[in-house]
Amino acid sequence: MHAIGVDIGGTKIAAGVVDDEGRILAQTRVGTEPDDASSIDRAIAEVCRDLAKEYEIGAIGLAAAGFVSPDRASVLFAPNIAWRDYPIAHRVGALLDLDVPIVVENDANAAGWAEFRFGVAREATDLLMLTVGTGLGGALVVNNQLVRGRWGVAAEVGHMRVVPDGHYCGCGHEGCWEQYASGTALVRDARAAAVARPKDAVPLLDLANGIAGDITGPLITTAAMAGDPLSIELLAELGRWIGEGAASVAALLDPELIVIGGGVGAAGALLLEPARQAYGESLPARGHRPEARLELAALGNEAGIVGAADLARA
Ligand code: BGC
Ligand code: NA
Ligand code: ZN
Repeated sequence: MHAIGVDIGGTKIAAGVVDDEGRILAQTRVGTEPDDASSIDRAIAEVCRDLAKEYEIGAIGLAAAGFVSPDRASVLFAPNIAWRDYPIAHRVGALLDLDVPIVVENDANAAGWAEFRFGVAREATDLLMLTVGTGLGGALVVNNQLVRGRWGVAAEVGHMRVVPDGHYCGCGHEGCWEQYASGTALVRDARAAAVARPKDAVPLLDLANGIAGDITGPLITTAAMAGDPLSIELLAELGRWIGEGAASVAALLDPELIVIGGGVGAAGALLLEPARQAYGESLPARGHRPEARLELAALGNEAGIVGAADLARA
């Protein structure tokens, strides 16, 4: 059965038609306004309508960047999008004439599920997935099962406190891991460095037409890949936060594989190697225990689409 998967992030919606083997047959993407929930509904309905023109669809999966209710119909809360007890499946359904189930899943859970079923974690039984984007998302597969917790919102690892009195977070607390290990954190630090260290920031600022506020994640990756030391340093710092935090999660869950996904995965080894190093240095009882491998998501930024579709037809 073909299903549509829709990945709804802080700044964009990406959707695709996915077959039983996890292959994306057609794909589309639109920008969104995180402050306006009803415009997000309309954008979702529009991409679904478009995709359903060409393919017979049996289910729709919505991967949402927030805390999802246990009946998989609503978003209870989202730190970076204006969803509060928001019945998103119902709202989107009301805009569509398609008679198919609409199933909501946390975006990182969807991505982790896709990697577990079809991606880099195919052979694994115990997985920690981290999606590094606007926020920091988490998914846990323990003994081949996606861990949802008692009320659906397990694995919100981005909101574990890593810095007392640290940066304010959209969840209402301070010092959350996502304030240090996300694309948002990377861009915040790059913009600050461009102001504080203008000489070091010349290559990066050149790419942003001289405007610190125009620096984006993809520009940092581009500059780093071209050898810019500041951008390499910023990605290494992000990798370090990811690796250190992952070691704390490993203390709790002993995963076999830790998969890093989200937009910043495009930085490849420039992110992965510092993450691996920090993970190793921070791992409790290192040298006396088997160590989880850290790998990049095989499905890249498309994991959310694939996982949402697969979980919707399950
Ligand atoms: C949210 C998660 C989401 C993650 C990635 C976090 O801020 O709390 O629900 O999975 O961002 O989008
Ligand atoms: Na999650
Ligand atoms: Zn938080």
